[in-house]
Amino acid sequence: MLTGKRSVTINGETSSLESPPEMSLCDFLLEKSSSPQKEKICREGNCGACAVMLNGELVNSCIILCGQLSDGDAIGTSEGCKEISSLAPLHDCFLQEERNACKRCQSGMILAAKILLQKKPSPTRNEIAETISGILCPCLRYEKIITAIEKASNLLGEHP
Ligand code: FES
Ligand code: FES
Repeated sequence: MLTGKRSVTINGETSSLESPPEMSLCDFLLEKSSSPQKEKICREGNCGACAVMLNGELVNSCIILCGQLSDGDAIGTSEGCKEISSLAPLHDCFLQEERNACKRCQSGMILAAKILLQKKPSPTRNEIAETISGILCPCLRYEKIITAIEKASNLLGEHP
């Protein structure tokens, strides 16, 4: 496990990794953001609510320890997607469809959708369903989430 002085980038911003090596990446990020979701997640790698991009791959951050990160690793969160103007429709569609939802699953869903739409700009509903199948939505809003991603795909297709 790495303990030396390292820094990572979070949504493109350099951040020094001063946390204990045994702290999970999930807790490291929650501490930085003071997220209200802290108490509502499994921390066991089961729900997907803590998903982030790590060097371009979708990972559950609760099962990655800070000590496993390397200097220069790039972390992307769903908040960071908001800053990418080309992905704004994705956030907007989630806002519309998920207005009354608890949004616990939203980070993972948005990141999974981002990866899917980059690979396949016009996925079918089945392909969307398959992509998000690893992320739990205990509120069972899967149909709404699929619709949000489908709408985003249509909007991104109109304004690539
Ligand atoms: S909090 Fe990481 S998978 Fe549930
Ligand atoms: S977990 Fe509540 S909306 Fe998905």
